[in-house]
Amino acid sequence: MKTKIIELPKILDARGNLSFIEENNQIPFKIERAYWIYDVPGGTARGGHAFKEQCEFIVALSGSFDVILEEEKDKRTFHLNRSHYGLYVPNMVWRQMENFSSNSIALVLASTSFDENDYIREYNQYIQFKKKDDRSF
Ligand code: TYD
Repeated sequence: MKTKIIELPKILDARGNLSFIEENNQIPFKIERAYWIYDVPGGTARGGHAFKEQCEFIVALSGSFDVILEEEKDKRTFHLNRSHYGLYVPNMVWRQMENFSSNSIALVLASTSFDENDYIREYNQYIQFKKKDDRSF
């Protein structure tokens, strides 16, 4: 499955809204870890890496930000600003996050536990990895 926006269930009633995510249901992987990014100073970019194995699902729980993804020579910007939508990011996609609004919170559900060795932090290395990956199919 490739990068895509997934709409989450939204239960509306007079007391407010409720949304939820279940592993292997709304999102196509088992959730191994959750982390969140918050208090991001204006103008700051985060990310700037890809993961060899890890898939992610990113939700703007509060506020808004942009996720810029580069996949198969295609560069796309996703503006996340609703907490009942999320962005599925498969492994081996270069991703950056920027334009965080004040008080924004980015919730990230990840398919693996934290492993620095799973990161590709150098863009050139990512391109080399991609080439190797493509050749193996
Ligand atoms: P990093 O993933 O590089 O942040 P971003 O992609 O938002 O720029 O993580 C920043 C630091 O936090 C880095 O030193 C690794 C550490 N970290 C953990 O220890 N555990 C985690 O689950 C995550 C996501 C990061």
